[in-house]
Amino acid sequence: MGAQIQRGALEDLNHALHLAFASVVRTGEHVICSESVYGPVVGLLREQMGNFGIDVSFVDTPDSAAIKKALTPKTTLIHIETPANPTMAVTDISEAAAIAHGHGARLSVDNTFMSPILQRPLEHGADIVIHSMTKFLNGHADVVAGMVVAKDEKDYRLFRKMSNAFGGTIDPFNSFLVARGIKTLALRMERHVANGMKVAKFLEGHPKVSKVMYPGLESHPQYETHRKQSDGPGGLISFELKGGVDAGKVLMNSVHMCALAVSLGGVETLIQHPASMTHASMDPALRKQAGITDGLVRISVGIEDAQEIIADLEQGLAKVK
Ligand SMILES: Cc1ncc(COP(=O)(O)O)c(C=O)c1O
Repeated sequence: MGAQIQRGALEDLNHALHLAFASVVRTGEHVICSESVYGPVVGLLREQMGNFGIDVSFVDTPDSAAIKKALTPKTTLIHIETPANPTMAVTDISEAAAIAHGHGARLSVDNTFMSPILQRPLEHGADIVIHSMTKFLNGHADVVAGMVVAKDEKDYRLFRKMSNAFGGTIDPFNSFLVARGIKTLALRMERHVANGMKVAKFLEGHPKVSKVMYPGLESHPQYETHRKQSDGPGGLISFELKGGVDAGKVLMNSVHMCALAVSLGGVETLIQHPASMTHASMDPALRKQAGITDGLVRISVGIEDAQEIIADLEQGLAKVK
């Protein structure tokens, strides 16, 4: 690990990602990215970075053989989300780091779903960590901000130079709000995890739910990997209803306490439909490849009383035929 962990705060996460990618990847090079990923990252890599002659492959990064297979002599960056938005797929950070470093590439990790309280990718070999501070770090749904963390002093200097050139740095008032939010981060994360576990178990036991994706459940395909590299499963859950998209619509329009809205990681519980909301801009073929089905519902479990969240979901599910 470098002598000091260095951070830089940006206006939002896409600025943070753009800054990190544009700083370390050059024209003619190749990036490997998790296929299940925050939707706009696909456009950023394919279109905006593509315009500068950068090539990208979206792969199933929980499968390390798939990462290895996608490597080309030009690969200089592997970018993963773990757990991934919205499928909750988990990638082994130390395995991905070993593959990247064995190839002379860097590993960057979007750690938004975990926050540094639950997962610290630098400890597992990542070179760059990116957080949307809009989510858990701020926690109160009143800021849009992002952060880039570099392990290496040289990378940090690159990021500073780039952010100077690009602009898009966070303003003082939003910095104040995020700093205020971080004071309660540890407490909030404890509650997000406790509530997440209760809601996930409730959903898993419900007869109208066909599948629950939550890394705190033993049924999660990468349960052991997540346990190894994190201190908790967090507050994000994805699930599918037996009645598919139509059932999902009924549920989302029937809940009262859970707000139908994008974003995540705030004190209030939010529910949303990735295929028509957060991941609507993603090409449908890639959505399908990544397992983001039209029936997938994502919930960001807040810090309210868990029984109230469950009661709201229960009455909503009762309206599903
Ligand atoms: C994993 C992940 N990264 C980044 C973002 C976007 O962050 P921001 O709203 O700060 O641009 C999201 C938003 O949902 C996300 O889920």
